[in-house]
Amino acid sequence: MEKAIFVLNGPNLNLLGTREPEIYGTDTLADVEAACTALATSLGMKLVFRQSNSEGQLIDWLQEARDHGAGVLLNAGALTHTSLAIYDAIKAMTIPVIEVHLSNPLRREAFRHHSYVGMAATGTIAGFGLHSYVLGLEALAKKLSVKS
Ligand code: DQA
Repeated sequence: MEKAIFVLNGPNLNLLGTREPEIYGTDTLADVEAACTALATSLGMKLVFRQSNSEGQLIDWLQEARDHGAGVLLNAGALTHTSLAIYDAIKAMTIPVIEVHLSNPLRREAFRHHSYVGMAATGTIAGFGLHSYVLGLEALAKKLSVKS
């Protein structure tokens, strides 16, 4: 069976659309999923799209992707800036992992300037709202040499 791209979303991203819309915009997580699904279909890629508020669940999914996935798009939310365990989980992977953010954390509070995810990821795309995910999927497709 063809390996899937895992799009994994961390804490509070289930609230997209109503959460600080001046920062994150008004697109919901369902909108993000629909955009990712549409692009994946056009690129011929299989997609798994998930969200969890818990760190352990995200690590379990990263390990699942490590064994069964082709690549990962990861928006770890605030865990980006705090989770050494997610850093270790990414370091244990050989498939590409792209860090994505709706906002640009480097333009925001100093505590968002450090990224454990970014220190382990293949690359980072941030600041384009929902489009960050689209750009991230396109980058993954290129990396995996799927037609794009
Ligand atoms: C975020 C940025 C993080 O700093 C924040 O904690 C989030 C969302 C983003 O997508 O812009 O929850 O990952």
